[in-house]
Amino acid sequence: MTHNPLLLLLLDSSNRSSELVKVLQKKDLTLEVVRSEAEARRWLEENQCQAIFLAVSSLQFQGSFLGDLQNIAASVAFIVAASEPSVNDAVIALQAGAVDYLEMPVSENRLDSALDKAGVRRRIAPVNQPPAKIEKGCAAIIGNSSVMRQVFSLIKKVCDAETTVLVRGESGTGKELIAQALHYEGVRGAGPFVPVNCGAIPGELLESELFGHEKGAFTHAIRTRLGRFELANGGTVFLDEISEMSPMLQVKLLRVLQEKEFERIGGTKTIRSDFRVVAATNRDLEQEVQAGRFREDLYYRLNVIPIEAPPLRDRRQDIPLLVEHFVARFNRLRKKKIKGVAEEVMVRFTCYTWPGNVRELENMLERMVILTGGEVLSVADLPERLLAAGTIPIEQVEELPGQGFFLNEVVADFEKRLILQALEQTDWVKNRAAKLLNVNRTTLIEKMKRFKLISSSAEA
Ligand SMILES: Nc1ncnc2c1ncn2[C@@H]1O[C@H](COP(=O)(O)OP(=O)(O)OP(=O)(O)O)[C@@H](O)[C@H]1O
Ligand SMILES: [Mg+2]
Repeated sequence: MTHNPLLLLLLDSSNRSSELVKVLQKKDLTLEVVRSEAEARRWLEENQCQAIFLAVSSLQFQGSFLGDLQNIAASVAFIVAASEPSVNDAVIALQAGAVDYLEMPVSENRLDSALDKAGVRRRIAPVNQPPAKIEKGCAAIIGNSSVMRQVFSLIKKVCDAETTVLVRGESGTGKELIAQALHYEGVRGAGPFVPVNCGAIPGELLESELFGHEKGAFTHAIRTRLGRFELANGGTVFLDEISEMSPMLQVKLLRVLQEKEFERIGGTKTIRSDFRVVAATNRDLEQEVQAGRFREDLYYRLNVIPIEAPPLRDRRQDIPLLVEHFVARFNRLRKKKIKGVAEEVMVRFTCYTWPGNVRELENMLERMVILTGGEVLSVADLPERLLAAGTIPIEQVEELPGQGFFLNEVVADFEKRLILQALEQTDWVKNRAAKLLNVNRTTLIEKMKRFKLISSSAEA
């Protein structure tokens, strides 16, 4: 165990940071390095540190994180160092409570004075908790249903393939976790994971984010900036909400995927970078192609290996595991001692349709953990919308409820669950499952296709 002050260092992928790591390593500090906001959040949920050091290119995408820092690590001092500093950012950082705002490269004097302000240069009280390891890869994804086991085995199979993967699925199903798992399970896991949300960054900015720009390429390009493709060298670029990319950028992306080379905006030098692309979408890309909003050639290029993130209602067996996981997590985070959920709550969870998927369950549990007065989460803690939803256990529908219900949906759901059970009991041997259900094999296969248990092009 260490008695040196523990400093959490968040490094975004800007290239100047490695120098900084070397300098910091020489100090009387224990360094814990994380590469993304999400990783920092997870680490802070499990661990304590004396100070946080954010070494970023600019605050553009870290703004909201700064605000959150005050909640997740209230009494911890933090320092911001930017490789693309601006007065605006300095104001934001200091207003958010940073003890210092530095411009990179940082002189050693400046660095020491910032560390002093943060109270970490001289030895102070030891941390009594050894740092916990952050779960990465498949271990961070909770689920044991057959559909999730298929996802895990697919991730393991393709994590080292260099081909593009397209992660598809409704909102909140864990697409980003799957993308991270693809990165961390493979050899590229040692390199950077560089996420880009194509839906959140306006079109013109997105181009320079991805490709970088040369000094003077446009009015505000005061210095050369590396793009995310360049920063992801040796690692993975995660293109989230890919359907939101403009037609012009779609063309440029196609070329990059084919050639693995490009120019920065305003530049003539050809840049080569060795990165893998994982893309994600919650839209029906085929439909976007048909409607002329998404290039067909790019679609084929991206969709080499599709991975489907299943909606929560199709893997209800995972709900108890997820509940346990989130309750434990929010207990830690909120310093609570909730023992679990009442049986009736679990029944209602299992019967609810979860339009917002795992994210909805996560948010609901967080709210319940905060608001409850008891040790066990009870029906009284459930939000109105869940109580209002038709939540009669499907197996127990014998009498039509007064408010009516949706016959086709209920029957289909019931049918699908029985088919899944039969398949699980027979290790997915279709002949045996069909026998168990007393239907013939082709009927079973048809139904499996309808319920997306196998691909619609699978042969009988
Ligand atoms: N299988 C899982 N195990 C644990 N946590 C999960 C799982 N799936 C999703 N989550 C959690 O649910 C939230 C949503 O997941 P994520 O951001 O990966 O979803 P998404 O599919 O990218 O959603 P969106 O399309 O809305 O961006 C995250 O907080 C994530 O940690
Ligand atoms: Mg997402």
